[in-house]
Amino acid sequence: MTDVVALVPAAGSGVRLGENMPKAFVELAGRTLLEWALDGLSASGALSRVVVVVPDILQDTTSRLVESCVLPVDVVVGGAERTDSVRAGLAVAGTADIVLVHDAARCLTPPSLITRVVEAVGAGASAVVPVLPVVDTMKSVDAHGVVTGTVDRATLRSVQTPQGFDGVTLRRAYDAFPETATDDAGLVERLGVDVHTVVGDAEAFKITTPMDLVLARALVARRTQS
Ligand code: C5P
Repeated sequence: MTDVVALVPAAGSGVRLGENMPKAFVELAGRTLLEWALDGLSASGALSRVVVVVPDILQDTTSRLVESCVLPVDVVVGGAERTDSVRAGLAVAGTADIVLVHDAARCLTPPSLITRVVEAVGAGASAVVPVLPVVDTMKSVDAHGVVTGTVDRATLRSVQTPQGFDGVTLRRAYDAFPETATDDAGLVERLGVDVHTVVGDAEAFKITTPMDLVLARALVARRTQS
């Protein structure tokens, strides 16, 4: 059977959210963002196990939180940058055939998107990212904030998680590049491996600012009503 592991980086401080605690542990309708994220991963039915990466002071708390998860969950301590946290998770993921990397902060990601990514990797893509078209006009600016150009947005995509990889490729990328990257596919790109796309989902948005939390609360209320 294919071993499909999701790494869930949840070790960020979440300063921009202004909630005075690590973002993945902020509550949404009485449950932490991390628990909501684990629900989505479990409901996809596409995974064998999960590795959650958290701040060291929250390792014990997390071990208790994940007890109710239907999937086997390892809890490991993350690092200063997101890349360090993913690297720590990857070390525990071992020789998994398929590895997803999924931000805890994208806690309302529909299970159907998770399945779509796993299926695309299972069908032979070495790296897959969910994307959405960019809706705003994009401009480049110089150091003074003066516009230097207008970027053709038709060629741009906004990238979400889960990002999916065949395990060998992701491990090779992390072994090859010690530096940090804002996403995992970025490291795989540097190997010269093609990164494929699948259609993302607006509900896979990343909770970053207080306004995102307002949106997340509204979505959860709508999901509980329907
Ligand atoms: O800060 P940002 O929103 O980009 O973080 C994306 C995800 O990466 C979050 O789920 C956050 O908890 C995680 N992260 C991490 N370790 C860090 C920084 C961020 O696991 N050092």
